[in-house]
Amino acid sequence: MNKKYFIKTYGCQMNVYDSHRIAMSLENLGYVKANHQQDADLVLFNTCHIREKAAEKLFSDLGRALIVKNERTENGLNTVIGVLGCVVQAEDDQILKRAPYVDFALGPLTYHRLPAILKQLETKHISGILDTQFPVESKFDFLPENKAEGGCSFLAIQEGCDNFCTYCVVPYTRGVEYSRPVEDVLKEAKKLIETGTLEINLLGQNVNSYHGKDQNGKEQNLAYLLNKMAELDGLKRLRYTTSYPADVDDDLIQCHKNIDILMPYLHLPVQSGSNKILKLMNRRHTAETYLEVVSKLKEANPKLEMSSDFIVGFPEETDEDFEQTLKLVDKVSYIQAFSFKYSKRPGTPAAVMENQVPEKIKKERLNILQNKLFALQNAFNQKCVGQTFEVLFEQKGRHKGQFIGRTPYMQNVHASADEKMMGKIQKVKILSATANSLEGKVV
Ligand code: SAH
Ligand code: SF4
Ligand code: F3S
Repeated sequence: MNKKYFIKTYGCQMNVYDSHRIAMSLENLGYVKANHQQDADLVLFNTCHIREKAAEKLFSDLGRALIVKNERTENGLNTVIGVLGCVVQAEDDQILKRAPYVDFALGPLTYHRLPAILKQLETKHISGILDTQFPVESKFDFLPENKAEGGCSFLAIQEGCDNFCTYCVVPYTRGVEYSRPVEDVLKEAKKLIETGTLEINLLGQNVNSYHGKDQNGKEQNLAYLLNKMAELDGLKRLRYTTSYPADVDDDLIQCHKNIDILMPYLHLPVQSGSNKILKLMNRRHTAETYLEVVSKLKEANPKLEMSSDFIVGFPEETDEDFEQTLKLVDKVSYIQAFSFKYSKRPGTPAAVMENQVPEKIKKERLNILQNKLFALQNAFNQKCVGQTFEVLFEQKGRHKGQFIGRTPYMQNVHASADEKMMGKIQKVKILSATANSLEGKVV
């Protein structure tokens, strides 16, 4: 009988991508996906360290995993528990100390070593293996080929970050910036298209700093890569995320004018509208330079809409600073956004800054900001009623015959459809809208 695996993924899209690649390498070894954690011989947690809550969740999930493991042991079944991802990189041996029943822990850059570790566990009957190296080899050269799971796929083109925003753990968990060679990216993209992908989202912690080498060994930028991607037969939609505002160059802006499969929706995190706070955050943009980039992008493609990330309650943030953020939100009129209370991360410069903002004020500001963002999102969705969009259907809805897909603006659309439409693009007329989703009819 085939062994079963179960992966729980926390955090960003990069982790979703990593979990998919990990699943592929397990399936290569003959594992099959378990529908429930209780049925799994191998349980993996792919973790995130970005905010305090994200990391805490892991330990409560691990506690539950131990209970399941013990129940399975009583039934004569063996369970291997592994922890992967950014918490491992940040906490190093602390995970194995706090949860000694964890069999192995691997950082985000070493998960290509998983098959070897599983073999070690099986043949040598050891446990407590830890690997948090920043290896010299690239994991991408050792992973089995990536294949599509549906109509939309992520594709990592870049990893790590050299920006060192003062609140952020990513440069410490994912290491220095690394760009994959152009040909490797194109090869992976072709395979994804061959196996059913219509939409590819190019991923990186800061995709704008992409500088992968081409066949001649010459470094190329993101705009070059986007143009190459646009030449691929069968690709209908192209996206890239996450962008760093100061690294959006004119070549990239031109792509939004010239590449018709590049979707008219861009996630461009601003974090704050106050220049004082942006400086303390070590972001290399001001509110003004950010707005300038946005207006150039909208000039290149008037249909372009924006999303962003915000942090409220960063050290030293006053009511006035927060007002600046609200003003910027009004100017850009985001159609979607993520907002967070500042969370102190050990080892980052902001964690020891003076004038930390009290929790109560953080909460109040987050509430005000989220209400505003919610209203903007709702207004945009309402504006879509009566319009027709191309929708890429991705999953089954809760009701029989109902399917869920995405518009070019990443809005969820519910519509009655045929099973055959899964993974396909269909024209859908929007009949009604809420702040979170649209309801439509296939035309
Ligand atoms: N590379 C991306 C995303 C990084 S993490 C970028 O540069 O934007 C995703 C988001 O988490 C960030 O944009 C930020 O808004 C938020 N974030 C990161 N560290 C945080 C912290 N310490 N507290 C609260 N939010 C944080
Ligand atoms: Fe973190 Fe800043 Fe790098 Fe984004 S750009 S990953 S927020 S350090
Ligand atoms: Fe979290 Fe690591 Fe992504 S810290 S946000 S999983 S890069």
